[in-house]
Amino acid sequence: IVMIVDFGGQYAQLIARRVRECGVYCEILPYNKSAEEILAQNPKGIIFSGGPSSVNAENAPQVDPGVFKAGVPILGICYGMQLMAKELGGEVSKPEKHEYGHTDFYRNGSSALFEGVSEKTAVWMSHGDAVTDMPAGFGLTGHTDLTPTAAMADEARRFFGVQFHPEVVHTPEGTTMLKNFLFKICECKGGWSMGNYIDIVVENIREKVGKHNVICALSGGVDSSVAAVLVHKAIGEQLTCVFVDHGFLRLGEAEQVVDTFKNKFNMKLVHIDASKHFMSLLKGVTEPEKKRKTIGAEFIHTFQEEANKLEDVKFLVQGTLYPDVVESGTATASTIKSHHNVGGLPKDMKFQLIEPLRELFKDEVRELGRQLGLPEEVVNRQPFPGPGLAIRIIGEITPERLDILRRADFIVRDVIKQHGLYNDIWQSFAILPAAIRSVGVQGDERTYDYTVGIRAVTSSDGMTADYFRFPWEVLDEMSRRICNEVAGVNRVVYDITSKPPSTIEWE
Ligand code: XMP
Repeated sequence: IVMIVDFGGQYAQLIARRVRECGVYCEILPYNKSAEEILAQNPKGIIFSGGPSSVNAENAPQVDPGVFKAGVPILGICYGMQLMAKELGGEVSKPEKHEYGHTDFYRNGSSALFEGVSEKTAVWMSHGDAVTDMPAGFGLTGHTDLTPTAAMADEARRFFGVQFHPEVVHTPEGTTMLKNFLFKICECKGGWSMGNYIDIVVENIREKVGKHNVICALSGGVDSSVAAVLVHKAIGEQLTCVFVDHGFLRLGEAEQVVDTFKNKFNMKLVHIDASKHFMSLLKGVTEPEKKRKTIGAEFIHTFQEEANKLEDVKFLVQGTLYPDVVESGTATASTIKSHHNVGGLPKDMKFQLIEPLRELFKDEVRELGRQLGLPEEVVNRQPFPGPGLAIRIIGEITPERLDILRRADFIVRDVIKQHGLYNDIWQSFAILPAAIRSVGVQGDERTYDYTVGIRAVTSSDGMTADYFRFPWEVLDEMSRRICNEVAGVNRVVYDITSKPPSTIEWE
């Protein structure tokens, strides 16, 4: 195991991810833990992360100096390097010029950390302070044009510092450096995989939960599915999954959720078919925010009622991922839409949280899901909003409109899958702008019917997006199939706006 000491910001998780990619297990601890706690699991190495503070600031995060006495190799990155320098008797100050972004780095001497790294290599810099005087025992191992001490090492004590960020992709030889640290310096063996992660997490969940019961809101999405199966693996029957079906799911989706979790995984699943109730609440509602709020509130209410029926429930499972943690911690953005998120049940519910995916990135969660035996359809599923098809019918929701949208939406996804494009697209779906009727001609008859919109976007996080450039024949196939197979539709259009200025969903 390698311990990563977190000094804030968003760096520690990315370092952890890179270490895991190298096949080494690691855990992250906040900087204020004692040396005893950091060393408790006999780590083979310690990494100090970057952080937003200045080491010279009042209340700057410190580390228990005990960690320097344990004989364990330490790699300090950015803030971590500065802290190491200051703590061991060196000096850190604010240079006149700052370095941000891509920078050329030149090696000095031969450090074990840079074995196999080019003499001149690109690195990613982002710092305000720099080491101006190295502590006794340290030698210079690299510099840049603006930072004379961009890397330092005490090879005997196996302490290494780098001012740049080897964990980001903009440092192309960063992985070589991390591998040198892990395998050559710390002598880790590697070979760790997601399979091992499962064992460790399962053990932790068991310990935390004890004999109590646990509840989980299941939507069929990747995150809540993987979290639920993982918790189920740990505590079996102590977990009850509640699947609130609001009736706005896609064709065959509710059946698939029941089949996967109840039949395949033998999980305790309460399936609440509340579709009629939700539909009645939304009668006459056309305003997008009102739709969202009505669905969100009723969803929580239904879930809460179900939870009250169960005994001794102390924990709630949430499929929070690492990017969610970062975003909610830093979000200052204004509310464009009020999100209804299955994971985002209100904090005033009297449960303690179990968030087994908190440290993982999306692609790691998918890999974990595969290891747990979840089907590819679930593991590779595109994101789907909590309020479902309700926010893809522009205007009032009626059973007829819902049926039309559901069938058109199925065709969109079906054609995309048949052309092997599903995994190239972030989200692809149909929209029904129900206020629009237009004139058409079908079988020599005049029609006055609905228009279906197709939306397909590429994105890396949903915050920005670009519309997908389909080959014409794919669009053509969708258009013909929708008009032929879905009664009530005589026109199909493709949405060619990016986000911004549009959003991905239409409401
Ligand atoms: P927009 O439409 O804001 O969507 O560009 C960005 C991403 O968020 C999804 N989305 C939601 N997800 N609950 C969710 O869980 C919601 O209420 C919700 N609204 C939008 C949307 O599908 C896209 O991936």
